[in-house]
Amino acid sequence: MKIFLDTANLESIKKFNDMGLLDGITTNPSLLSKEGGDPASMMKSITDIINGDVSLEVVSTNYDGMIQEGRDLRKYGSNVVVKVPMTPDGLKACKTLTSEGIPVNVTLIFSANQALLAAKSGAKYVSPFIGRLDDIGQNGMSLIEDIAKIFPMYDFETEILVASIRHPIHVVEAAKIGADVVTLPPAVLDKMLRHPLTDIGLKNFLADWEKLKEQNLGTK
Ligand code: G3P
Repeated sequence: MKIFLDTANLESIKKFNDMGLLDGITTNPSLLSKEGGDPASMMKSITDIINGDVSLEVVSTNYDGMIQEGRDLRKYGSNVVVKVPMTPDGLKACKTLTSEGIPVNVTLIFSANQALLAAKSGAKYVSPFIGRLDDIGQNGMSLIEDIAKIFPMYDFETEILVASIRHPIHVVEAAKIGADVVTLPPAVLDKMLRHPLTDIGLKNFLADWEKLKEQNLGTK
């Protein structure tokens, strides 16, 4: 399963990329807005740092605007995947951009039917938002199960990119289902690499090592 980081924060991107954990990045207008500053320079920096797909989202809502923006976003790097919303114009833009060799991530997917249609339009990725479904009392992970059942039956090459992940258990569940990608807020990835028994074990190893050093000093 590929791991993407769901952020525009350069510090976090560098930190986890240096650990070899990142296969890509997803951004959206809200994530860029959270960081502040010049979005163009942020998007350029991210595409330069990451050796993998970087999703950059259009803000136009009509077909012509999405196409223009998509082509412009792609100029940031050959690893740019253009993110379009799951709307009629978004799907039309998905088909056109895909035919031009520009990969597309269809975002704001909340049903298996939407995922199916995005795949039909040629999307490289579909982004179902599981946390936001959980928020309204629906089961986000069962949507991932449904899409993971449907896609292989029809040989779609579209990858399931699980988005709106809120905690590490979401990641384990998505991995057990066989999702292609999870995109994680930095805080979730940070939680995944920690365990209290790791900290206790390391503390004990170091304390025992110090004891051994002191014993050796005492014998000299
Ligand atoms: O890529 C964006 C998606 O992950 C949204 O997450 O937490 O705003 O629902 P959230």
